[in-house]
Parts: sequence; structure tokens; C-alpha cells
Amino acid sequence: MSNAVAFDIYGTLIDTQAVLARLTDLIGDKAPAVSRSWRQKQLEYSFRRGLMHDYCDFSVCTRQALVFACREHAVAIGEEAIELAMQAYADLDAFADVPAGLEALHKQGMHLYAFSNGSRAAVQRLLERAGIGHYFTSVVSVEDVRSFKPDPAVYAHLVRSCGVPAAQLCLVSSNPFDVLGAAHAGLRSAWLRRDPTSQFDPWESQPDITLEGFGEVASRLSAVYRQPMA
Ligand code: 2OP
Repeated sequence: MSNAVAFDIYGTLIDTQAVLARLTDLIGDKAPAVSRSWRQKQLEYSFRRGLMHDYCDFSVCTRQALVFACREHAVAIGEEAIELAMQAYADLDAFADVPAGLEALHKQGMHLYAFSNGSRAAVQRLLERAGIGHYFTSVVSVEDVRSFKPDPAVYAHLVRSCGVPAAQLCLVSSNPFDVLGAAHAGLRSAWLRRDPTSQFDPWESQPDITLEGFGEVASRLSAVYRQPMA
């Protein structure tokens, strides 16, 4: 039974920076602050809803977080501008280093999965639009279990969907909360540190490996499966 690797989407394979450019066009110089609040609140809403067992499509968390972030920064935004900002999330590109990294893993015979809070339809659209959809065996969405990362239920669903033991499945994510959730659920984990200033949480659990760029993924991932489980 071969090893498998699952990839987080937003911020890992798909670059969300283009959202900032669109937001700047829409609301001007408060966009960087609003964009940071938007991402933080989007994730906070998903955490809340997971704990509350009050699931909704991730795009609802995204939209409600945008409205909150604009209010927080005293930015007036109408429905049309909200729609345009939300459309930016649907039209994101992959990071430039992703296709070559996926190609290298594909040549190694690894089974690749996309794993996201986003709906299957939204993720498939992003992957196809980015020209990388063909690398993936399937898209695994938390919508199937109506919860959000880092609920253990979503990682258990990922393991079932990939059809390999948790110790033969590695999650690659740029989001420390996601890496910790996967490790807690018994998966292998790789933190993709795209932002060199970003810090990992000082928790008792740490990623199996830290990647400074996607170009390292193919050369370093195979060693992860040989490590003794923590
Ligand atoms: C995901 O794609 C939110 O980045 C996180 O699931």
C-alpha cells in the first residue's frame, strides 16, 4: 500500500494574496488591515461553528468575516463590492512553485489529495482553473462531515477517503492549526512555512518536518513516513 499526501488549499497551494489586490481596488488603503482581519475572522468563524456543531458552507464564514472586518475598520462596503471581493476568492491562482512540486510527487508515484474547509465544488474549480486538478486522486472536503478543521472528525474523514493508515498519510499545510490538528489525529504532518516571519505554535506537538518552500516537498516528504510515530 503506497503512501499518500494531502494538501491544504488556501495559503498552501493557492495564493490568497490576489484577494488583497482586489480589496485594495474596492476599499483603498485600509485593505491590508481589513484583509488580515478578514482571514483571522474567517478562520475564527470556522472554529466557532465547528465547536457549536453549527455547520455552514465555508464561503458563508468568508462572507460574514468580510462584513465584520469592514465594520471593525469603519469601511463602508456595499453588496456589489462584497460580491466582487468574494469572487476574488473563487478566482485565485496557485503559487508559482506548486505545479513543479506536484509533478515531482506524481512521478514518485505518490497519491495526492486536496483537503480543505472549502466545498468540493469550490476547491475543484480552483484546482482546475489553476491547471493542477489532474494531479489529484480526489478532493476531500470537510463538508462531508459538516464540521471544520481542526475537528478530529475531519481528519478521520480524510484518512478514510485516502484509504491508507494514518501513519502513511502526510498532511502538508501552511496553517499551524491544521498541522496540529492532523498530528493530533495521528497523521504525519509537514508545515509549509511560506512566510519566513511566521511562527509555529509553542505546543507540545510539532510538525514532522518544516518546509521553507514547496520546491522541497518532493525531496523531503519520503523521509517523513520512515520516522517513528511521535
Ligand atoms: C483550508 O483550505 C482554511 O486553508 C484552510 O481548509
